[in-house]
Amino acid sequence: MSDFKDKVVIVTGAGRGLGRSHAIEFAKRGAKVVVNDLGGAIDGTGFGNTAQSVVDEITHFGGTAFANTDSVAEEGSAQNIVDTALNTYGTVDILVNNAGILRDKTFQNVTMENFRAVIDVHLMGAVYVTSAVWSIMVAKGWGRIVLTSSESGIFGNFGQSNYAAAKMGLVGLMNVLKLEGGRKGIHTNCLAPGARTRMTESLPAQSGGSPHQVSPAVLYLSSDEAPNGIILQASGGHFSVLRMSHGESVNLGEGVSYESFLEKAESIVNGKIIS
Ligand SMILES: NC(=O)c1ccc[n+]([C@@H]2O[C@H](COP(=O)([O-])OP(=O)(O)OC[C@H]3O[C@@H](n4cnc5c(N)ncnc54)[C@H](O)[C@@H]3O)[C@@H](O)[C@H]2O)c1
Repeated sequence: MSDFKDKVVIVTGAGRGLGRSHAIEFAKRGAKVVVNDLGGAIDGTGFGNTAQSVVDEITHFGGTAFANTDSVAEEGSAQNIVDTALNTYGTVDILVNNAGILRDKTFQNVTMENFRAVIDVHLMGAVYVTSAVWSIMVAKGWGRIVLTSSESGIFGNFGQSNYAAAKMGLVGLMNVLKLEGGRKGIHTNCLAPGARTRMTESLPAQSGGSPHQVSPAVLYLSSDEAPNGIILQASGGHFSVLRMSHGESVNLGEGVSYESFLEKAESIVNGKIIS
């Protein structure tokens, strides 16, 4: 079994919800945790020191943690999060990109400011913090990176074009980092969680479970046994893998035209899934 003792872990957005649970589960197993959280409202505005309250919880049970309130959404402040880990614990072994906001509107009504704000936190935030830890992990020949994606991106969800684009962007990022990092001992995976937090409190009561039912998946993706490049779904104690699928190829040859394509369009679009 993988041992998290003395592993240095950064969990972004860990002042509440899923991130808080991940941070606590790492700390219970001996990890040194940087609890990052800006502490703002669900739309990302404002500020509060929720990170310190999670650090207090962790130190209360004898764990080791340090608070950081920088935003993931700007390159310089994302670097500060990593510098906090380096100055406090000397290195970074595991990064859980979890921070997130919502600015839901239909595509017709979403402003470009609200589209960009969501991309900046979920996608660029993960890019900035991951970029800041990358060379540290390359140098030590070991690292684990978790990117928090969502079914909303993978399958779509009404009113969340900004959020879905960011969450699917993280899958694309993983698909490249698994190749570039795999040769250097860095494993990158996506999590597609479901849990009752302030982000889902407007949904029907039966949806999702507790954050602590998701965290085992995050610890597994951060362990020595972690795979590289999977999307792990975790919700209410249920776990499964999500994959892209490939339909059967139809060969229309050198002489393909729009008309010959149309004749076969039905079997291309609704063809058998082969992998
Ligand atoms: N709850 C679910 O069912 C669910 C489903 C799919 C995906 N997710 C994803 O899981 C992650 C955690 O969500 P949650 O449900 O715990 O929500 P949450 O609102 O409880 O927690 C998100 C945390 O991120 C912090 N944060 C926001 N912007 C930040 C920034 N710029 N820098 C640092 N911290 C910032 C917030 O202050 C908040 O504490 C998010 O990425 C979310 O999109 C959640």
